[in-house]
Amino acid sequence: MRKINLAIFFGGHSSEYEVSLASAYAVVSNLDKERYVPVLVGISADGQWHYFHGDLDKVRDNAWLNEKDCVPAALCPNYGSRKLLLLKQEGVTELPIDAAFPVLHGKFGEDGTLQGMIEMAGIPLVGCDVLSSALCMDKDRAHKLAAVAGVLAPRALVLEREDGRYLERMTAFVEEIGLPVFVKPLKAGSSFGVSKVSGLDDLEAAAKLAFTYDSQMIVEETIEGFEVGCAVLGTGALTVGEVDEIELSGGFFDYTEKYTLKTSKIHVPARISQEKAKEIKDAAKAVYKALGCSGFARVDLFLTPDGEIVFNEVNTIPGFTEHSRYPGMMEAAGIPFGELLTRIIEQAVGQ
Ligand SMILES: Nc1ncnc2c1ncn2[C@@H]1O[C@H](COP(=O)(O)OP(=O)(O)O)[C@@H](O)[C@H]1O
Ligand SMILES: [Mg+2]
Repeated sequence: MRKINLAIFFGGHSSEYEVSLASAYAVVSNLDKERYVPVLVGISADGQWHYFHGDLDKVRDNAWLNEKDCVPAALCPNYGSRKLLLLKQEGVTELPIDAAFPVLHGKFGEDGTLQGMIEMAGIPLVGCDVLSSALCMDKDRAHKLAAVAGVLAPRALVLEREDGRYLERMTAFVEEIGLPVFVKPLKAGSSFGVSKVSGLDDLEAAAKLAFTYDSQMIVEETIEGFEVGCAVLGTGALTVGEVDEIELSGGFFDYTEKYTLKTSKIHVPARISQEKAKEIKDAAKAVYKALGCSGFARVDLFLTPDGEIVFNEVNTIPGFTEHSRYPGMMEAAGIPFGELLTRIIEQAVGQ
């Protein structure tokens, strides 16, 4: 069997650059090397592309970007040419690519932009396509489509940074729905720019913080209860991992908690009844389909004290280390990390 040259994109011009390094390190470490030859494409934090041929540890340690290990690179846009162009000083050389796997989080990686380049080049793409990636990145549009699919979403208002009266509108909305509220960039991840606001006086600071990550923000009512996740795999026929549960000891699942779990805990499976878990999985599948997802994605929802299921967001490229939630939920359902990667990649390669 001929091995597959798999372009793995890591880093990225995104606030989640460092999260991607950890995910990519785990993905490459656990890849079936009998089947796949990883072709690493590192995107620096300022958005420059490089073919990386150094030691994988350097990706984990954020020490990959150096002249010895890197060659400036670009994806050939010609449909079906399927190659990475290495832009060496002495001239351009080519590396053939059979499939592309963006292991990037957030802007310019998870939001459909890179997916568009890969689709245009006719390279089989691992994961969600351009449309579903873009829709899932936009928390408001994702909410609206989830609601059409019959899954509740928080009451919310979107505001623009350029709107001179955003604070006035925000305050009026919060007075109507009541405190506390969540203020978030419309399109971001890893809880960057997210605030839980308990006083009207704190709205402006929360808005300013959200606006440093995106030109639009979303203000949401707080959903009581706890957050649950669903790892969904497939296109058409879907496999769903065990539902997980985030136990918080206060506040919300912010950046520090996500990556250190200092005071919070992830329970897989969630401490809920089988019936409720099935209901959650069905809601996750409905949202996944409504947003046009394919390949894989993690659907996050809230479970309220009344047993109501409320949609939060879809992560089309969720954290992908051995300790991350998506692989954890699949592992609990009997699919180990390496096999999970092969299943995800084969869906694209089989296209
Ligand atoms: N409407 C809400 N009600 C309750 N908690 C929320 C709400 N929105 C966000 N949170 C909390 O904030 C965290 C981050 O928000 P989220 O929308 O998931 O952003 P990100 O894309 O950065 O992960 C969630 O994991 C949850 O703990
Ligand atoms: Mg989230």
